[in-house]
Amino acid sequence: MNEITIALGKGRLESFTLQAFKKLGIEFPDFTKDSRKLIFNDRENIYQIVLVKASDVPTYVEKGAADIGIVGKDTLLESGADVFEVLDLGFGQCKFAVAGLPDYTYGSASKITVASKYPNVARNFYHKKGMSIETIKLNGSVELAPLIGLSDVIVDIVETGTTLKENGLVVLEDISEISARLIVNKASFKTKTDRIHSLIEEMQSIVEREMV
Ligand code: PRP
Repeated sequence: MNEITIALGKGRLESFTLQAFKKLGIEFPDFTKDSRKLIFNDRENIYQIVLVKASDVPTYVEKGAADIGIVGKDTLLESGADVFEVLDLGFGQCKFAVAGLPDYTYGSASKITVASKYPNVARNFYHKKGMSIETIKLNGSVELAPLIGLSDVIVDIVETGTTLKENGLVVLEDISEISARLIVNKASFKTKTDRIHSLIEEMQSIVEREMV
């Protein structure tokens, strides 16, 4: 019987996360990139990984279907999930930014249109600036929006900057730094205290070691 269920998002953070667990001596021998399996047990049958869509990680953890999760701060901010964010894992670094055409200025427009995969993040950012916006929720290829007149600007993650550059867009404003976070279900934090606390401590020592 597994004691701890970990929600892992498919994609960017997948291999980083598995490497981090490997450094703790926790390995998932059945995990292969091409597999269609969604549940993996570690050798000792203490930990179980459930592989989910990255944007669903906060939901699995908030609802207690997973005890802990590894998730980008971007996804966490957008979800607004009621979970404990216990550790910045340091990997998966990128940033949230407003981007648009190089000559774009907010000017005197009464309302600007913002396309984003992260409408809540966009709304919060502009709300703090005292600006009202109309958000258009997209699910990908967001850079297209200002190019074909769907929106004035986009709020998106920028990692290498290549996607913006190749589409003739620039960062207009930085919003916040992003990296992978360890999140914990609030009830699990109380009921599985020992196991979860030691996992957090071990992960923290790896993060600190890698920063040196
Ligand atoms: C993300 C993001 C940008 C791109 C930024 O998209 O939405 O499009 O990566 O990365 P870069 O600065 O290194 O170019 P993702 O790759 O997740 O694809 P998507 O558009 O299908 O969501």
